[in-house]
Amino acid sequence: MKHVKFTLNGKPFEREVLEHRTLLHFLREDLGYTGTKEGCGAGECGACTVIMNGEAVNSCLVLAAELDGAKLETIEGEAAADGSLTILQDSFDKHHAVQCGYCTAGMIMSAKDLLRRNAHPDRHAVIEGIEGNFCRCTGYEQIIEAILDAADNGAAAEIAERTKGGDNA
Ligand code: FES
Ligand code: FES
Repeated sequence: MKHVKFTLNGKPFEREVLEHRTLLHFLREDLGYTGTKEGCGAGECGACTVIMNGEAVNSCLVLAAELDGAKLETIEGEAAADGSLTILQDSFDKHHAVQCGYCTAGMIMSAKDLLRRNAHPDRHAVIEGIEGNFCRCTGYEQIIEAILDAADNGAAAEIAERTKGGDNA
């Protein structure tokens, strides 16, 4: 077992973790944060994407034991406590970018990571930003449109503001 201290969506946590536990299983099974999904379990589908220390990672490839001192962001930290959506989430809704929803948490986290690095990505940058995330339902077009429109509507500024406020990272 390893003792780790970290923040999850701005809240401090301290836990004993099994040395070989993946971050994905730790989140879902030990902490009950089931918004992050398991697809391939092998780093290929992006369903399990979370943000760790400001970078999108596949949580199926990270060990929970690596969490000590980390800042973790998951989909549970996105909507406000009253259920109101972020600009990015709202845009996914408006553009019908969610069908079965299995890829959505990972897509949102990858898009958030992209918008933090590039407030106004062009279409090519959006495609690159989500290239590690598979969607079996939408054909990607609605997702790309949702991210482009969210960027036009100030999603990056909202992400920066929430990060500064400690809401989120
Ligand atoms: S479950 Fe992690 S990349 Fe597919
Ligand atoms: S909405 Fe079903 S996999 Fe993307």
